Amino acid sequence: MTQPTAQSIEDITQKALVELAGFETTEQLDQWRVTYLGRRGELTTILRGLSQLDLNDRRLIGALGNQAKTTLEESLASRTQGMSETRLARAASEERIDVTLPGRPIVTGGLHPTTQIIREICGAFAGMGFSVIEGPEVEWDHYNFEMLNIPSGHPARDMWNTLWVDYRDEQGQQPMLLRTHTSPMQARVMESMEPPVRVIVPGKCYRYEATDATHEWHFYQVEGLAVDEGITFADLKGTLFEFAKRMFGDERKVRFRCDYFPFVEPGVDMSIDCFACQGDGQGCRICRDSGWIEIMGAGMVHPKVLAGVGYDTEKYTGFAFGLGPERIAMLKYGIDDIRHFYTNDLRFLRQF
Ligand code: PHE
Repeated sequence: MTQPTAQSIEDITQKALVELAGFETTEQLDQWRVTYLGRRGELTTILRGLSQLDLNDRRLIGALGNQAKTTLEESLASRTQGMSETRLARAASEERIDVTLPGRPIVTGGLHPTTQIIREICGAFAGMGFSVIEGPEVEWDHYNFEMLNIPSGHPARDMWNTLWVDYRDEQGQQPMLLRTHTSPMQARVMESMEPPVRVIVPGKCYRYEATDATHEWHFYQVEGLAVDEGITFADLKGTLFEFAKRMFGDERKVRFRCDYFPFVEPGVDMSIDCFACQGDGQGCRICRDSGWIEIMGAGMVHPKVLAGVGYDTEKYTGFAFGLGPERIAMLKYGIDDIRHFYTNDLRFLRQF
């Protein structure tokens, strides 16, 4: 082992300081620390040779060595600090002048999937001359049932599990409810205007319902109504077929089957051929093997309903339909549980 001298210590110190001054990165500083001050570092190694010197030299050279060590350590510390300050300063100044950096995105909300589907549905019908109106969610028995040919005590009331408002009139009747469908707006609209009528009514409905994957106690409906001279079942079919194509694609087929609603005659349910399996049905989850998907109830407005609002039933006929936007959204987006819509889970909502 070579003996340390004042000269060798001075040489190493100079060499180290010159190197240090030229560094740009913290990695270089780290490496430098290992090279000179580490356990096997150059200065450390030299100082280890102190034991070979006689006492006098050892004291003298030892002091020089310690001084050199302190010098290197202090230079390293100040270089480290200087380097991080330069980096900060550079970053700061670049930030101030870099106008090309993209802005921070502003956190925005989005439209609820039900809202999007309702807008799509209304858009499709608006394009066919229907105007969009809305009505009250708290409704009278009179409009929700009576005017729709569902008198009190009629078994058809069982089709709508009703939430009644806790209020009684002078006769002890409970005449107010949360509307079970948007159909009461048929009567309200016709009372307020003369034909031609062509309206579409989106809105929230409520039912006294145990919730499961396909039932909610509140949900939306979109009602449609067209009344004029000479409207026939062919108009109903043509309009709803056109709607199905606008909503689900040009190649869609539709199917009408008899169904019963007290306020239409005849009444139908309309299905489209399944867009997932193209009507094939085999093993299809969306249409459950049938090839068809029911999307709405419809029919020709019952003459009793027309008469109820004072329309001349010899002169006017019309058709009405009602559909559930959540159901359509479920079909369109492959959502398997209606309860997702209103549990406000952002992981669900952010997908739309
Ligand atoms: N209102 C009916 C329901 O809620 C749907 C419907 C509307 C049927 C209009 C026929 C005509 O089930």
